[in-house]
Amino acid sequence: MASLSTASRLCLRSAAKPSVPAVRALSSTAMRPDSATYNSPFKVSDKGNQIPSFGKYVSNSSPSKNLVFSYFMVGTMGALTAAGAKSTVSEFLVNMAASADVLAMAKVEVDLNTIPEGKNVIIKWRGKPVFVRHRTADEIEQANKVEVSSLRDPQTDEERVKNPEWLVMLGVCTHLGCVPIGEAGDYGGWFCPCHGSHYDISGRIRKGPAPLNLEIPEYDFPEDGKLVVG
Ligand code: FES
Repeated sequence: MASLSTASRLCLRSAAKPSVPAVRALSSTAMRPDSATYNSPFKVSDKGNQIPSFGKYVSNSSPSKNLVFSYFMVGTMGALTAAGAKSTVSEFLVNMAASADVLAMAKVEVDLNTIPEGKNVIIKWRGKPVFVRHRTADEIEQANKVEVSSLRDPQTDEERVKNPEWLVMLGVCTHLGCVPIGEAGDYGGWFCPCHGSHYDISGRIRKGPAPLNLEIPEYDFPEDGKLVVG
């Protein structure tokens, strides 16, 4: 019985032993040096493995000549790129700049000789009304007599005019933007009918809900009898 079990164990061991040597033998045969002679079915020709000749592209000139040419090419390309960039930026700036009609509206010229003393004119500047008043000596005196500290928006008349004869200001009520009426109100200046704001002969708020004096725009007298607003 014992001999039978020993025999069966031997039989099992021999069956369980892997056939590694056989596989190794196969693989070592494939890697053998004489495999270089193996003709692959995918090999078309040997040309693909060869480095092509660039001889015909090699310059015959001297290295210094080649350098000069390279510098010339780089310099030229740089100059062309810079010129292109400059032109693009200039085009962009020209497009972004205000058009001629807008520029024309930016400044308005007024002939002061056409405005008699004691009269108002209203001009349009950048879509807003501008009051120009040719003040009389009495009105100038009246504007200067006011106690500045008593004003809601304290400003002397001097601070509001370049030439006392000419009062130039935006005709937009500082309350909610209505256009005040000239030569009206309790202070002989302008009156805003929307909510009852009274401005004096210097355009300063004296009564009503408006918080500030009428705004003074940019203006100048480039020559005698000429006013430029803007
Ligand atoms: S808008 Fe002029 S008083 Fe209100």
